[in-house]
Amino acid sequence: MRQPALTTTVSYQALQSHAAEARDWQMRQLFAADPQRFPALTVDAAGLFLDYSKNRLDARTIELLVDLARERGVEAQRDAMFAGDKINLTEHRSVLHTALRMPRGKQLVVDGQDVGADVHAVLDRVKTFTDKVRNGTWLGYSGKPITDIINIGIGGSDLGPKMAVLALRSYAHPRLKMHFVSNVDGHDMDAVLAQVNHETTLFIVASKTFTTAETMLNAQTARRWFLCEGREEDLARHFVAVSTNTEAVSKFGIDTDNMFPFWDWVGGRYSVWSAIGLSVALAVGFGYFQTMLEGAHAMDEHFRTAPLAQNMPVLLALVGFWNRQFLGATSLSIAPYHQDLNRFPAYLQQLDMESNGKRVTKGGQPVDTPTCPIVWGECGTNAQHAYFQLLHQGTDVVPIDFIAALRATHDLEGHHDALLANCFAQSEAFMKGKSADEVRAELQAQGLTEAKIDELVPHKTFPGNRPSNTILMDQLTPATLGALIALYEHKTFVQGVIWDIASFDQWGVELGKVLAKKIQAELEGDVDPGAHDSSTNGLIVMAKGAKVP
Ligand code: F6P
Repeated sequence: MRQPALTTTVSYQALQSHAAEARDWQMRQLFAADPQRFPALTVDAAGLFLDYSKNRLDARTIELLVDLARERGVEAQRDAMFAGDKINLTEHRSVLHTALRMPRGKQLVVDGQDVGADVHAVLDRVKTFTDKVRNGTWLGYSGKPITDIINIGIGGSDLGPKMAVLALRSYAHPRLKMHFVSNVDGHDMDAVLAQVNHETTLFIVASKTFTTAETMLNAQTARRWFLCEGREEDLARHFVAVSTNTEAVSKFGIDTDNMFPFWDWVGGRYSVWSAIGLSVALAVGFGYFQTMLEGAHAMDEHFRTAPLAQNMPVLLALVGFWNRQFLGATSLSIAPYHQDLNRFPAYLQQLDMESNGKRVTKGGQPVDTPTCPIVWGECGTNAQHAYFQLLHQGTDVVPIDFIAALRATHDLEGHHDALLANCFAQSEAFMKGKSADEVRAELQAQGLTEAKIDELVPHKTFPGNRPSNTILMDQLTPATLGALIALYEHKTFVQGVIWDIASFDQWGVELGKVLAKKIQAELEGDVDPGAHDSSTNGLIVMAKGAKVP
C-alpha cells in the first residue's frame, strides 16, 4: 500500500508542534517534576528491561509517537511479516527470520510449504553434526578430533555468528577454538592459518548466495591450504557449507551431504538464527543455541502481542525516531557495558544501516525526513577513555544505548560493581550535566582565585540534557542474547515502516562490488587503467608499480 509522505501525516504534524514546545525541556527538571518518571518510562519483556526515561520526552510525547506508529501501519506490517507476506517488495520475498525461532510443531505455510517443518528439519541436522564434532566422534583425516573451526563468511554470514560466539564465551566447548575469516585481505586468513593444524581443522563456508567474492576467494585459499597436506577425498571431513545455493556449493567441491541449507526469505543480516549460526551451535552446543532461539522467540511474541505503548522494540524505535528527527541526532552510539558484547556494535551497524540506510520510500520517492543514523560504539568502560569526551562536551548531541547485565558470568571480586557504577554514572552525567554555577561553587570550595575560576568555568561545564537508553538483563545468557538481538531487529523494522523504507534489500553495496571486479582485472592483467578519473588511475598505476620487482 502506498504511504503518504511522512511529514504530511496528521500524527507527524502533531509531533512537530509538540517538538516545538519540547525544544527547551531540561531532563533534570522533568525528573524533578515527576517522581514517577522512572516507572512510567520503563518496560520489561523477554528477560530484558528498557529504561528510556533519560530522553527529552514525556508521556505525551510517547502518546504522539505511538499515534504515528499506528498511522504508519506498524501493527499491520508487523502482522504481515509474521504471516510470511512478501513484505520485501523490491526482491519480492517474505521476511521470515522470526520463523527460524518458532517452536517445533508450529506450522507456518508460505507458498504451499510448511516453513516450520523445514526449519526444524535443518535444526535436527545441525544438532546431529554439532554433537559429533563436540563429542569428538567427527574425526579429521588422520583420525583426530576437530580442535579448530574456521568460519569463512562476510557481512551477515560473519558478524552475527562472530558476535554471538564472543558473547557466549563462557558457554564454549573447551576443546574447540573458533576463528572467523571475513576480509578479502589475505592478512586475515594468513593470521588464522598460522594458528591451526591441517589434521584437526574444520572449515565452514558460510554464504547465503555462495557467490560473494571475498568468501569465495577465502574458501579457495583454505581449500588450497588444506590440500597441501590432505587429499581430495579428505575434503568432506574438513569442509562444510551453509548456503541457499546448492548448485554453487556442489560446483565448489563441497559434498551437498555436508551442506546446511536455508532459504531466500532469510536476509543475510537476519541469518544468525539459521544454519549460518552453525559456528555458534558448535561453540556452545545445540542446547544453548536452541535457548538463544527461544530467547528471540520470547521477544517476537512480545513484539507481536504487546500494545504499542508497552512494546519494547516499538518504544526503542520511536525514541530513536524522536531523537533523529526532532533533536537532529545524526548518530547513535552503542555502549555495551559487557566485554563479551564487544562485537555487538559492529553487528548492529549492519543490521541497522544496511536495512535503513536508504533515501527513497518503497514507492521510489525521496524520504522527506532524515533516515537511519550512523550506528557506532565500543564497550564501556574503554569508550569512556576514548571518545566520551566528545559525547559530553562536543557540539553534537549523540544518543547512547547503554547495555549491561546485573550479574556477571565471572566471579572476580570488585569488577562488576565497578562496571555497573560506571555505566549508571555515565547515563546520569549525560542527563544532568554540570552547570556553570555548580562548577563555580566547586572551584570556590577548592580555594581558587576568582580570575582562575572565570577562566576554568566554561571548560568544566557540561551541558547535560543528552539522551540515553539503558537496557538491562539479569545475566548475559543464550536466552537474553537472543532477546537482545531480536529487540534490535524489530526496532529496525519499526523505524523502516515509519520511514516507509524498503528495509530488506541492500542495493547500495553493489556499485563498489562491480567496480572492484573491473579494477582487479586491471591490477592483474595488462589492461590499461586509463578509463577512470585521474585519482583512481593514479592509484592503480601505483599498485601496479609496487608489483614490479
Ligand atoms: O554485500 C552485502 C551482503 O549481501 C550482505 O547483505 C550479506 O550479509 C553479505 O553480503 C554476505 O552475503 P552472502 O552470505 O551471500 O555471502
